[in-house]
Amino acid sequence: MNLIFLGAPGAGKGTQARLLQEREGIPQVSTGDMLRAAMVEGSPVGKRAKEYVEQGALVPDDVMIALIEERLVRPDARRGFVLDGFPRTLPQAEALDRMLERAGRVLDAVLYFDISDETILRRLTGRWVCRKAGHIYHLEYNPPKAPGQCDADGSELYQRVDDRPETVRHRLDVYHRETQPVVEFYRRRGVFATIDAEGDIEDVSRKVLGTIRARMELRA
Ligand code: AP5
Repeated sequence: MNLIFLGAPGAGKGTQARLLQEREGIPQVSTGDMLRAAMVEGSPVGKRAKEYVEQGALVPDDVMIALIEERLVRPDARRGFVLDGFPRTLPQAEALDRMLERAGRVLDAVLYFDISDETILRRLTGRWVCRKAGHIYHLEYNPPKAPGQCDADGSELYQRVDDRPETVRHRLDVYHRETQPVVEFYRRRGVFATIDAEGDIEDVSRKVLGTIRARMELRA
């Protein structure tokens, strides 16, 4: 399955993409995780992205398109992927169309996580992430068993610098201005589906799986 998870920051795309990877074996391709890893590494991409990510601005399209182009030809992603955080602008969406066409691949589903700005603020200000592998927690909705420690790998949990309330508000403005047109770009296509993302994690997961299975049946 070739999938896109679209939606505002904090809508739950990363949480659901990870669950899908664990439960169905479809690799999560998260541009946010890739950029944060590049920043820790201090690679040229990481150095170029740092200022944008920390301020909640979008990293330039040429950097993001090159990153995805290189990622989608790796062996695991040749069998399928969940794009989490890409595309986020119309030029990125158009570039993805060209990439897939050249590779003779099609999109099976574009899932749009529909959520209010109010819920987003609550989710992002309570989020903690594990240092080693990016496992995602929430102080209230999905707390770790031991405070400050990842259940999966024991590493330290931290708060992302871009989850500060003033940066979250900027990210939301950027989302409405730059990424909402991408939602409209895909809405006209048969592969588009809206997921009500206001429920709890398992509730949203059932909706995601139900939608994907329905698409697979249609395709078979
Ligand atoms: P990125 O890391 O992609 O951030 P984002 O899109 O803003 O998304 P988030 O990771 O904030 O949210 P999410 O939807 O994954 O929610 P999550 O599952 O964590 O990008 C970061 C930055 O990188 C960007 O600002 C930009 O600078 C740059 N960048 C990345 N891609 C780019 C691109 N293509 N072009 C240009 N720049 C790019 O959930 C949030 C919280 O809610 C967690 O605490 C979780 O536990 C909790 N939660 C999740 N689901 C539920 C639920 N159903 N009920 C209750 N709590 C829940």
